[in-house]
Amino acid sequence: MNTQRLMNTAKALVADDKGLLAMDESNPTCNRRFAKLGIPQTEEMHRTYRELIVTTPGLSESISGAILYDETIRQRKNDGTPFATSLADAGIIPGIKVDTGAKDLAGHSGEKITEGLDGLRDRLAEYSQMGARFAKWRAVIAIGEGIPTRGCIEANANALARYAALCQEAGLVPVVEPEVVMDGGHTIERCCEVTEEVQRTVFSQLYKQGVMLEGVILKPNMVLPGSTCPKQETVEEVADATVRCLLRSVPAAVPGIAFLSGGQSAELASARLNAMNVRFKARLPWALAFSFARAIQQPALEIWRGQEANALAAQRALCHRAKCNRAARRGEYNAGMEDYLHAKQVGVLCQ
Ligand code: G3H
Repeated sequence: MNTQRLMNTAKALVADDKGLLAMDESNPTCNRRFAKLGIPQTEEMHRTYRELIVTTPGLSESISGAILYDETIRQRKNDGTPFATSLADAGIIPGIKVDTGAKDLAGHSGEKITEGLDGLRDRLAEYSQMGARFAKWRAVIAIGEGIPTRGCIEANANALARYAALCQEAGLVPVVEPEVVMDGGHTIERCCEVTEEVQRTVFSQLYKQGVMLEGVILKPNMVLPGSTCPKQETVEEVADATVRCLLRSVPAAVPGIAFLSGGQSAELASARLNAMNVRFKARLPWALAFSFARAIQQPALEIWRGQEANALAAQRALCHRAKCNRAARRGEYNAGMEDYLHAKQVGVLCQ
């Protein structure tokens, strides 16, 4: 295991107040999002959309790494350049989603287990050859009546740890993503309790599997009330609850925490990340960064709608969201950046 290389990659992924762009939607997820906007759900449209993303001017000013999907890492720009090469040339580290999805966990109604360990060593070697320097695996933990169970938490934590160990053996930094999903009517306190238990279990398993924490990025959920909970806490309360929970459960050796957005609006995700950095940045052992998919891509996708004529405006929107999130890492994001003219004046808007 090349320890120094892993540590360098992990550090680079959270350096300079940048963050990750998750563009690793599986085909079913990508097709669902395309269908809602009337975009044809074909391999070529997936490719066209991903080319739009990787060729966005100025993206590398805010984005350190991009997570690709198996189909995407095998695709090329119109000029024949593989997407992974194009990203690397632009100064963005290519990564790859390597789990094969969350399936029903036998004997545990309403709970999921993420699959993909079979053959993973060989797949990692292939992805590494294609230029990937980090990988991602997402575990899904739902909150509800009697769930999550210990059985679900332990099975997912064990899979995450085995994946992470295989990644490090292959020289890829594992992005470890245990997502406590926000669907449901649970309170923020319940989310905090579950997130803490999940993180503690994940780190215990990472330790048992010999994973080097300095070469890992954690990709957790923010601590939020359920989406249908009547009480929705303020941005500052969410920031406090999230940092308090992570301080209790995430070892200081981990270089960076890159949040998923999980279905929050793009603006709220930026505002909450910003509040965490305003209130705690100087006192934390790890960097607080982002690894958003929807909260960076959604506005751009809604502008593009599969039309070439909208591509430039979509790229501007993508770049704008990435810049807002870089500002959030610095604690410099504010709602005014969402206003077109103001954004232009302060240089948050892309040209
Ligand atoms: O695995 C999930 C994605 O990488 C993050 O997606 O930001 O839309 O939750 P999201």
